[in-house]
Amino acid sequence: MADSFDLNQSHAGSRREFLRRTFAFSAVAALAPGALLAQAAGTTDSPLPDPAHPHLLLVGDWGTDKYIQQQQQVANGMKRYVDVRNVHPGANIYLGDNWYGTMTGVDSTRWQTQFEQMYPDSHFPGPAWAVLGNHDYERRVVNKVDMQLSYAAKVKGGSRWRMPGRWYTFNYPETNPMIKFIALDSNLPHTQDHDMLWNFTMSKDHVAEQDAFLRAELAKSRTTPFVGIICHHPLYTNGVHKDNPILIQAWDALLRQYKVDFYMTGHDHDLQHLEFAGHPTSFIISGGGGAELVDWSIPPEKRGPFGARVLGFSHMEFERSAIVFRHLDQDAKEIHAFRKTPDGKVDILRPRLS
Ligand SMILES: [Fe+2]
Repeated sequence: MADSFDLNQSHAGSRREFLRRTFAFSAVAALAPGALLAQAAGTTDSPLPDPAHPHLLLVGDWGTDKYIQQQQQVANGMKRYVDVRNVHPGANIYLGDNWYGTMTGVDSTRWQTQFEQMYPDSHFPGPAWAVLGNHDYERRVVNKVDMQLSYAAKVKGGSRWRMPGRWYTFNYPETNPMIKFIALDSNLPHTQDHDMLWNFTMSKDHVAEQDAFLRAELAKSRTTPFVGIICHHPLYTNGVHKDNPILIQAWDALLRQYKVDFYMTGHDHDLQHLEFAGHPTSFIISGGGGAELVDWSIPPEKRGPFGARVLGFSHMEFERSAIVFRHLDQDAKEIHAFRKTPDGKVDILRPRLS
């Protein structure tokens, strides 16, 4: 271990001071030099995944039109992880920017080459729960939002693709569920950070409808130990897209009020884990599915506990009374891990390197 950093160095406002704990860098030799920029020091080793536990994998920003080789590398890493670690995910979560570039419709060959075959049911037989990113909110050639909703409806029973709406919920695992996922559409007006001719956003009616849905779902009495939100845009990120004032205004108070355990997104093409003192929510970014890597806006050693500018994916393992969350790089090497319990306790684990 070398330098230490104090997470009190907040960039998110005075009421949101970082954990009053001093973490430390730890170099991970298995990664390419310079790839790992910040890693909190754990005091406990990450456990080997237990095949008897429920598992799911997450990946974001994957359906690239320019970096398909990189998408394939990450998909290969996911398959290798399943094989080598004997992890059998009962579901995958696709965190948006599912389709960059043009799509001709539900019959586009890209559905086969970049989804059905890229993440084959030999390794990922469970449902593929998907949310919408900014690149999905494009009309190129078709409206890619409508196309993805149609693909879920059209191939019902014939594909693992699950997008029952722009927003929806599901429990995982189905039997004795540990977590309720609330899938949201984060394409609120003015959240777009680039102005392309083919982009559009949610309508005001959709925003109001989703807001009522979210508040109603959060207000229901809990039937699972954990609640997690999945969508595409981060509230807080050290990446190039920066903290999102529109989404912070819309959702941060709700995350706090209802003690949402996880808020998991893509959008920045890296892997992050952010914690804030007094905030019940662990903020996860898993945007390493294949698209080009992006730069930091805040050095990850200033805000953590973790950030790595690498391609990769993520893994949730459901223990009897806790969730172990892991970030993996494109070679399926574990580069960050933590365990979270329903009382909100977060323990950083030493990643398993072999
Ligand atoms: Fe995005």
